[in-house]
Amino acid sequence: MAFMVAARSRPVYGVTNMEWHEMMSVGVAEFDEDHKRVIVLLTEIHEALDLRQVGRASELAAELLKLATAHTEREEVFLRRIGFPDVELVTNPQKESLTRITELVCQFDQNTVAADDAILEMRLSFIDYLLSADINYKSYVKSKGLSDC
Ligand SMILES: [Fe+2]
Repeated sequence: MAFMVAARSRPVYGVTNMEWHEMMSVGVAEFDEDHKRVIVLLTEIHEALDLRQVGRASELAAELLKLATAHTEREEVFLRRIGFPDVELVTNPQKESLTRITELVCQFDQNTVAADDAILEMRLSFIDYLLSADINYKSYVKSKGLSDC
């Protein structure tokens, strides 16, 4: 039985108005809280870059990568524990997203245009990550009665 959600076209999100919506919930409070924190960090990185605080933006980006790496590891352990059948369907896009975010952080020290492009792509990467990776396990978690939010 497949538990995948059909691919959807990419929603349009404002560059400066990225907010949490209930549709983003994966049904696991711990992971939803991590995702909310990622959104806050992306917003704070953008604000720091707007103020030309590259050092601050880099610190926040380091925190983002640390959180995202730990989060991805915890999600993989959780999915294997509950017997989710397509773990790689979730983890491969996550790992690609982390690699891309790491590359984009390196652009913060370059010119402003590159930094602006980098933060926009980081936000879109996160949306892709939620919609193409994490959302795949939402219906499985629910079907197992493991949703806690
Ligand atoms: Fe996640």
